[in-house]
Amino acid sequence: MEEQDKITTPTPLEEDQKEVSLRPRYFDEYVGQEEMKENLKVFIASSRRRGHPLDHVLLHGPPGLGKTTMANLIANELGVGLKSTSGPVIERQGDLAAILTSLEAGQVLFVDEIHRMSRVVEEVLYSAMEDFKLDIMIGQGPSARTLKLDLPPFTLIGATTRTGLLSTPLRERFGIPLHFGFYKPEELAKIILRSAGILEVEIYDASALEIGKRSRGTPRIANRLLKRARDFADLKAGGVITETIVNETLRRLGVDEYGMDKLDRKILEQILVGHAGGPVGINTIAASVGEEPDTIEDVVEPYLLQMGFLQRTPRGRMATDKAREALGLKPQGLDQLKF
Ligand SMILES: Nc1ncnc2c1ncn2[C@@H]1O[C@H](COP(=O)(O)OP(=O)(O)OP(=O)(O)O)[C@@H](O)[C@H]1O
Ligand SMILES: [Mg+2]
Repeated sequence: MEEQDKITTPTPLEEDQKEVSLRPRYFDEYVGQEEMKENLKVFIASSRRRGHPLDHVLLHGPPGLGKTTMANLIANELGVGLKSTSGPVIERQGDLAAILTSLEAGQVLFVDEIHRMSRVVEEVLYSAMEDFKLDIMIGQGPSARTLKLDLPPFTLIGATTRTGLLSTPLRERFGIPLHFGFYKPEELAKIILRSAGILEVEIYDASALEIGKRSRGTPRIANRLLKRARDFADLKAGGVITETIVNETLRRLGVDEYGMDKLDRKILEQILVGHAGGPVGINTIAASVGEEPDTIEDVVEPYLLQMGFLQRTPRGRMATDKAREALGLKPQGLDQLKF
């Protein structure tokens, strides 16, 4: 991908890994997702009072909305340690068994991308989550036997961008399923102002709101655009992020007034111009823009759906009149009219 395309990808880039310091650690620093926070506060207080581990939590939603941040925050608020792993890393049942037996009582086990765990490994989780018991087969053939072990009580926090890919038995074992929605521009502006404080950059409130409007509803992108605006401000405006600097930065990065980047626009254009508005199958769209269908479904589509630019129908994706307008295309039919 080119630099311009990358800036609005909600998946982490290398420089985002260094942004640990921007991560909220407690509820009062975590902006937005109000209902989720209010519920969690009650569940956490009750777990602390009873001295029982918190019920298992499933965090789901598009990339960059704060799932990993929330998992760490929950452990902090519970006052317990967190062990972190991810679905594709656990290859065998034994790997998971080793992790589970090494937990301390009450600890949080965070499994990122839990939908990418293999079914065989996943089965170990069923009894572990339900009864804190480990139940695995060791050996093969006639000498094979089941190993049963008691586990310390723990809380599993799973994160996923695709709940649809989770098996039903696994999904049903999470007592607290939480969905992350996109953030409002005002919420993103708050996040940007907080990050600006930590990074020690000067920014106007109006500039923060403008970045907030154009960050695809995603804190990770908001923080990234803030850093790029800071770079331009350093060069041109004595370090202050003015509205002019914001507009100039986003123009250069190819981010339009709706927060769409080149790939978003290319996809909508393909559907609108190449396929008369649709419906078009996801694979056809993916092939015509040179991206993986999975990337389009996980990363691009959720925002376009939310903005009302795209619709999912049983026969494929359709682009709306609103998308046509946003791209500055003539209303459908007009281009074919002869005067
Ligand atoms: N509610 C929030 N308030 C303030 N900052 C936030 C919030 N949510 C996320 N962030 C910031 O956005 C960054 C990305 O969030 P995080 O890594 O938790 O996303 P994620 O949902 O785990 O993404 P992925 O699906 O790619 O793993 C964090 O480093 C943090 O700085
Ligand atoms: Mg994450």
